[in-house]
Amino acid sequence: MNTRRDFPENFIWGSATSSYQVEGAAFEDGKGPSIWNEFEKGHTAIMDNGTGDVACDQYHLYKRDVAIMRDIGFDAYRFSLAWSRIFPEGTGKMNPKGIDYYKRLCDELLANGIEPYITFYHWDLPLALQQKYGGWQSRECVKYFADYVAETAKALEGRCKNFFTVNELLGCVDQGYLNGICAPGLRLSKKEHNQVRHNMLLAHGMGLQVLRDIVPDARVSLAENPVFFTPVLDTPEHVDAAKRAFREVNGHFLTAIMEGGYPDSYLEAEGADAPIVQDGDFKLISAPMDFLGLNIYYGKLVRYAPESEKKYEIFNFDTSSELPECSVIFQPAVIYWGCRIINELWKPKEIIISENGLSNMDLPAADGEVYDIFRIKYLRSYLESMSRAIRDGIPITGYLHWSFLDNLEWGSGYRRRFGLTFVNYRTLERIPKLSAKFFKELIRTGRIA
Ligand code: NOJ
Repeated sequence: MNTRRDFPENFIWGSATSSYQVEGAAFEDGKGPSIWNEFEKGHTAIMDNGTGDVACDQYHLYKRDVAIMRDIGFDAYRFSLAWSRIFPEGTGKMNPKGIDYYKRLCDELLANGIEPYITFYHWDLPLALQQKYGGWQSRECVKYFADYVAETAKALEGRCKNFFTVNELLGCVDQGYLNGICAPGLRLSKKEHNQVRHNMLLAHGMGLQVLRDIVPDARVSLAENPVFFTPVLDTPEHVDAAKRAFREVNGHFLTAIMEGGYPDSYLEAEGADAPIVQDGDFKLISAPMDFLGLNIYYGKLVRYAPESEKKYEIFNFDTSSELPECSVIFQPAVIYWGCRIINELWKPKEIIISENGLSNMDLPAADGEVYDIFRIKYLRSYLESMSRAIRDGIPITGYLHWSFLDNLEWGSGYRRRFGLTFVNYRTLERIPKLSAKFFKELIRTGRIA
């Protein structure tokens, strides 16, 4: 039997969720409403009239969930805190029952040998901050975010050391404040929207700083989903084109963080609509991170185009799926190329894949098992690509699958099932899918099963 490992012994395996998508208990034990509880009102914002009121009810069933994670053998669980569970109004007095839930969840994880990886902001802003200050449109909100991070980190008393400040800037800023498909559902002007982008960068920077001050051995990053690029060929001119495209297209988010300022290409393109930057902002925003969390699903192809002004051409049409049953774009090479390009541009200390996965219509078969063979095909291919990156010396140290459970996929509702574990939304029963067994083997042997 072949016993060669595909991944190092100390590689971190785990999975991820977010508060609004799995917790439920939306108004229990003093939790305040978030912008998503408001956005879903009238049941038009979420497909099939879904709401986050119950979701997977992880708030009550967390012990059951941790037991499943332990059985799979996970080293880590990435989850987010519902800010309005801890501070119902976003600021002011801490809700003891809210913070107590997260303490219990961390304790349960730790008792089962699973490291908590906490995300402070996964899109569910306290509604009060939206109503009083216009949410991330104002710097007040950024200040309150830093206070929330500081007070929460203190209250957790060292239970957690690995943190993501914010999750997917594009998802919460552009979809929430520009095209209105996510909460708070706004369609701002270009100038206002750019300011929200900047304020979120600052929230990351301020969050990082307070975590450094409060948790001595904290490891901090954000979980970002830049637009990824794969060169059409692995030749120097095409790889170079992919790097330039990556740097410019992500100029207002990841490039700004990694380089401590907006690239000229962004400032020139935005002109008078560029955000107002105050003294000291970029010192915070670009403070070194301990690792870089990347949510990687798919990307775009790019070629060196000597005839064009930018000297590269992006192909937007690569949305083919080899897996027609799935609502994903199947591009395994994106893990390799995404990590390689970032590594060549900025040499992050470590990279953790903070999300990767696919949704499908997985349902139990007659024997009660869930045979999610497409997820297994997907995993095999994406993990091969990750293994190739590690062999090339790219410092990927962990992989957190999205998602641990089927859950509420924002405006797409409950139909798109992303989990390694099936959830029956009527009974809340959990069934680990075949892919959970695949993971168990992967973790046990260090080989792609
Ligand atoms: C992005 C987000 O972080 C997460 O909340 C979402 O459910 C997944 N990726 C899948 O779309």
